[in-house]
Parts: sequence; C-alpha cells; structure tokens
Amino acid sequence: MTVLTVKLPAQDTNYDLKIKKGILRQVGSETSKIFTGSKIAVITDETVHGYYGASVITDLEAAGFDVHCIVLPPGEQTKTFDSMPAIYSSLAAFGLTRSDLIIALGGGVIGDITGFVASSYLRGISFVQIPTTLLAQVDSSVGGKVGVDLPEGKNLVGAFYHPSLVLIDSLVLETLTDSAFSDGMAEVIKYGCIKDLSLFNQLLELTSRTEVMEKIDWLIETCCTIKKNIVQADEKDLGERMILNFGHTLGHAIEAYYHYEKYTHGQGVAIGMVAISRIAETKQLTKVGTTERLVTLLQQHHLPTELTDHEDYPHLLSYIKKDKKNIDGSLTVVVLTDIGHAQNKPTALSFFDSLTIGGITN
Ligand code: NAD
Ligand code: GLY
Repeated sequence: MTVLTVKLPAQDTNYDLKIKKGILRQVGSETSKIFTGSKIAVITDETVHGYYGASVITDLEAAGFDVHCIVLPPGEQTKTFDSMPAIYSSLAAFGLTRSDLIIALGGGVIGDITGFVASSYLRGISFVQIPTTLLAQVDSSVGGKVGVDLPEGKNLVGAFYHPSLVLIDSLVLETLTDSAFSDGMAEVIKYGCIKDLSLFNQLLELTSRTEVMEKIDWLIETCCTIKKNIVQADEKDLGERMILNFGHTLGHAIEAYYHYEKYTHGQGVAIGMVAISRIAETKQLTKVGTTERLVTLLQQHHLPTELTDHEDYPHLLSYIKKDKKNIDGSLTVVVLTDIGHAQNKPTALSFFDSLTIGGITN
C-alpha cells in the first residue's frame, strides 16, 4: 500500500490518501481507524451502487456500523443545487449527527456534491472519499474543492472542505466505460503538461488502456503526489494551485454551453488545453510545437482536441465571463511555457479574442 499524507499546516490538519488494489474490500477496517462513531451515510450513484454498493455496505456493517445509503442518478446533471435538499432530508431522517460520518462512493460528481453536503450539513460533518473513476482518483478526491454547478456556470457554489481519508482502489477502474477512462486520462495528461515532462513522455509510450492499467498505481501515485504538493503550498487557490486549472476555463465553458450533455469534464478540459495552447503559441507565450505534441498525446488516449462545431467557439466567451476567476474583466489564465512548465498569466478577457475569429479552430 502507498500512503500519501496531505498536510495542511494552516488548519493543523492531515489526511491520508491510501492507494492499494483491493482496498475497497477493507473499507470497514480502514474507516474504523479514523472514525469511532456509529452511523455512516454512503452517498453514491446508481451505476456505482450497482457494481460496488452491496459490498461496501456489507463490509461497513460487518465492522459494526449502522449504514444508510443514498443513491443518486449518475451524471453531471446530478451535481446541482437542486439535488441537495433531498439529500439533507435523507440524512436528517436517518438521524445523522455531527459526530457521524458521510462516505462519497463514486466519481467526481458524487465526490464534489457529497463533499459540499458534508461541508454544510449541521455546519460540517466528517467525510471520506472513495473515488471510483480515474478522474476522481487522480484529481477530484484530493484537495478539498467541493461544490455544485449552477445553470449560469460550472462549480459556482462550493467550499474548500477536505476529507478525513481517501481510499483509492484501482481495481474498480476495470468496470469504467472507455469514455470515462479517457476522461481521467485528460487530467493525467494535464499533470504531465503543467509539472512533469517525464510523465508526459511516458504517457506517449502507453498506447492502449491495457498498457495504462499495467502502470496504473504508479500513475495515480505520481498524479496525487503532484496535486498534494500543490495543494499544500496553496490550499485556497490564490497562486500556484491555479495551474491545476490548465484548460479548465475553456473546458468549463464548453461543458456549460452544451448544458453538460455533449462534452464531459475530461473532454472539455482536453479541448480547452489545446485551445489555450494554440492561443498562447500565437502570442509567443508557449514554445512553438507544444500544441502539436499535446494533440498527439490526447488523440492517442481517445480524447477530442477541438469542438465538432467550430462555429460554436465564439459562444464560449459569455461563459468565460462567468468564470469564478473573472474579476472585473481580469482573468488569470494558465499557459504552458513548455511541456512540464506552467505559468499563471493575469490577462484581460480579450486574451480569448481569437476564439471569435476562429483563429484557433484549425
Ligand atoms: P462522474 O462522477 O459523472 O463519473 C462518470 C461516470 O462513470 C458516471 O456515469 C458514473 O456512474 C460512472 N462510474 C463511476 N465509477 C465507476 C466505476 N468504477 N465503474 C463503472 N462506472 C463508474 O464523472 P467524473 O469524470 O468522475 O468526474 C467529473 C466531475 O469531477 C466534474 O463535475 C468535475 O467538475 C469534477 N472535478 C472536480 C475536481 C475537484 O478538485 N473537486 C477536479 C476535477 C474534476
Ligand atoms: N482541480 C483543480 C483543483 O483542485 O484545484
């Protein structure tokens, strides 16, 4: 087992990320190490519940816990404010108190909404993340960003609220669809782009999902180590942490513009990373040729690199304006100086002007 500890000195808080094949079958004993209460609410989605719900609940009950399970519809449409009242009511009906625990069992959608519920129910209750997608295992379960979407845009309501424990079992990735697996690869590739040339080059050597799975625990550990170090240095996203948002301003705009139906988060981020790199290359901020290398790697992992409807690019601008990083028309965008090196670039919204003239769509 690999254990990485996220240390947040400002809060005098530490929590472990435990990475081990099969750790899902030890959820009862692992939870007992950090929780001495009796009631646990597990929040999951229908798909994950179908695969893993029964075994997780049985294991927790065998460890002596009183377990209540809340099963939500799968997909980004669940990550909205409207989903929350029914969840709070269900927790209250179960009699969950402040000294009890919530477990998020699922992908980034379940992790984000469950974490936000945990941050606000009874003004805050402990929670554990059990991420079941590659994206959640390398990114969303770590670092304490929790929240939901509004019709106006992505992740516009939320909090910084860290889990007490993250249990990462790569065996559960076997049941992911190819598309959901590729979504996770978008974030893995992001880490190579922003921080780790060697990771980027090793990903170029992996030409199939099977080859990725042969290295999966190493990949998860590498990505979580990068994320943990960045979060420790800048928990509240005021400086270095912003580089984790490489491609995300455009990615979030793409998701929202198509009402979270046409492109997933990973696909939006993939297209966003390419678009921002193209713009930054034309402005001599990014080394020439970087975008081409990025496109090659994304395509190798079955990710889109541009919108299918090029005429939609200009429409993204109105969503970029609603980005929570937009303050009075100033926005910090993340650009690569080269593969493995990212930089925060304070800029005006006019940075994105070439979106309106189609200059990035070729
Ligand atoms: P998701 O949670 O919707 O999961 C994708 C699909 O896979 C769902 O249909 C789900 O039911 C299914 N699934 C999950 N685990 C499975 C398994 N083991 N086997 C079979 N099917 C499984 O999506 P996601 O890609 O995991 O997460 C995307 C979300 O994460 C977005 O809302 C994004 O904003 C958020 N996110 C948050 C952070 C953060 O720091 N909080 C970082 C990155 C992304
Ligand atoms: N996914 C971006 C962050 O955690 O900061």
